[in-house]
Amino acid sequence: MRFDVVTIFPAMFGPVFQQGVIGRAIERGLIGFQAHDLRQYTHDRHRQVDDMPFGGGPGMVMKPEPVIEAVESIRVKNRGPVVLMEPWGERLDQRLAAELVKEPGLIVICGRYEGIDDRVRTALGAREVSIGDYVLSGGEVPAMVLVDAVARLVPGVVGDPESLAQDSFADEMTGWPQFTRPADYRGMTVPDVLLSGDHARIKQWRRQQAAQRRAPHTEEVKKT
Ligand code: ADE
Repeated sequence: MRFDVVTIFPAMFGPVFQQGVIGRAIERGLIGFQAHDLRQYTHDRHRQVDDMPFGGGPGMVMKPEPVIEAVESIRVKNRGPVVLMEPWGERLDQRLAAELVKEPGLIVICGRYEGIDDRVRTALGAREVSIGDYVLSGGEVPAMVLVDAVARLVPGVVGDPESLAQDSFADEMTGWPQFTRPADYRGMTVPDVLLSGDHARIKQWRRQQAAQRRAPHTEEVKKT
């Protein structure tokens, strides 16, 4: 699966995706990732990517031409849908990540300023996605969240398939409190059951803990 991100800050992505699970997946060729500099698709001397909104109002709007030209150029290698990161978009959750991983790739556009000229959305049939009801200074951090959530569902990216199945939301058996050595840390001890070696009891304890811990809104996701 290929991920192409269009941004005015391509350098933000290197440090994030060179590390950890996603970094290794890119190295192993399981996923492709590239951040594209939007300014490379401008034709004027100032490499301007924004302009004043028609109808007036504060702030600036991202111009359509560079974004559309960037997507046209990326399309040669990436046949996936176009996603615009916007705070008013459809909310990202595990279900949406699982739906998007079925695509051959994603082309993710990071908004800045007051928004992107709406002809980008209509011309490209783009989907608007939000990572939550709060406003960030741009779509870059949201794009990282989306790419991470989808990429780790690509088969092989998460080394141990069991750990993927055990992710919260993915399975009923999730989200229990975890402990590692030492068994006694400053007088805080690990629950006896986990040291018992009785796997049936451990499983039951974890199931109970997970049920207590799970936030109510996650129930909805699980049922579908
Ligand atoms: N851009 C700014 N805030 C955002 C959010 N919450 N989700 C997606 N894109 C955004």
